[in-house]
Amino acid sequence: MAYLNIADYRRGAKRRLPRGIFEYVDRGSEDEIGLAAIRRSLDDLRFVPRVLRDVSELDLSADIFGNTLPCPLIIAPTAAAGLLWYDGEVALARAASQAGIPFCVATQSMTSIEDIRARAPGADLWFQLYVWRDREMVRTLLDRAAAAGVTTLVLTVDTPLAPKREYNTRNGFAIPIVPSIAAGFDVASHPRWAWRVLLRYLRESGMPTYAHYPAAFRTSIAREAIAENVKLSERVTWDDVAELRRQWRGRLVVKGALHVDDARQAVASGVDGIVVSSHGGRNLDSAVSPADVLPQIAEAVGHRLTVFADSGVRRGSDVVKLLALGAKAVLLGRSMLYGTAVAGTAGASGVLDILREEMCQSLAFLGQSSISHLPPDLIFGQSRSTPDDRQNP
Ligand SMILES: Cc1cc2nc3c(=O)[nH]c(=O)nc-3n(C[C@H](O)[C@H](O)[C@H](O)COP(=O)(O)O)c2cc1C
Repeated sequence: MAYLNIADYRRGAKRRLPRGIFEYVDRGSEDEIGLAAIRRSLDDLRFVPRVLRDVSELDLSADIFGNTLPCPLIIAPTAAAGLLWYDGEVALARAASQAGIPFCVATQSMTSIEDIRARAPGADLWFQLYVWRDREMVRTLLDRAAAAGVTTLVLTVDTPLAPKREYNTRNGFAIPIVPSIAAGFDVASHPRWAWRVLLRYLRESGMPTYAHYPAAFRTSIAREAIAENVKLSERVTWDDVAELRRQWRGRLVVKGALHVDDARQAVASGVDGIVVSSHGGRNLDSAVSPADVLPQIAEAVGHRLTVFADSGVRRGSDVVKLLALGAKAVLLGRSMLYGTAVAGTAGASGVLDILREEMCQSLAFLGQSSISHLPPDLIFGQSRSTPDDRQNP
């Protein structure tokens, strides 16, 4: 089958993966209002193209934190990418490296930051942090990330506790994997995945689980003793951001801000960037969509720190819309996972190729030759002033 767009990769992932895993990746939370709202918010944006401009040379490059990226894309942190493909996180890191873009490794990755570094030595690795209740363990984790050459720490701030996703319960899906009759049938009806992913893990390293969690967490017998320590802390506040700012020498990004005052507080806390994100509709179901608040946030703080955005990107035009609303770069979650589930690094690279091609198409139709200099009035009804305007009135 030819994979012509991200929806094709999604269908491919659905065929290949056990239902429990596919739904964990694909779906939202509670009534999935957020998923629909994110889609609607992007679809409702309309471009106002400019005409009669030379678009023979299109430039997708973008300056992010002093580096020129070949395109303004970053692979988002996603827990459990390693369940989609044997060593899925390494596959993603390699695809990122080949494309010259960063890959953000998740705290809940199936492969450790050290292993990813060793097997994708050229990758620009970022690290996403979930703050555990045991802060000493968090400090050790940060030391490991720094030693592995992580350039940018991404603190996720929109997940004070595990969200309500009823389909996971119905499917018997959990990490670490809990044997159940439902999960057993699911795996048995996807023999290709069972053979190429699960059995390979079992042969080579044991049941896949969160690689950064303490060893005791990985065995069901010892898990209870350690589980409290690695629960998400509900007590993470701006004081922790200040503390992290002191501890972490690299770039610090806060992921999951949607209120302009939180964005201002991020500036005051000395962070280098924020990701305007509703976690892809996976957490707070009725959260506002990033596209709805991005212009206000970009206008308020875009000249003080780097504004990123994510949630719902399935087309190159979605990327262009978020950039025109004020983001400097966009994070890709599920789209990259669909590609990884279909064909590992080749699938992830295929997704990036499609998005880049569609971004170029959008630019040409919009009469824009550079993706880093999109005017806000490219979007119907938008007339936000940009930091560039303010500096050069
Ligand atoms: C399966 C899956 C797992 C995720 N795990 C994490 C995580 O561990 N930490 C985090 O900050 N975001 C996590 N995210 C959210 C992504 O980083 C990103 O914000 C979101 O996927 C963007 O929306 P999109 O999937 O529509 O592109 C996860 C997303 C998915 C799909």
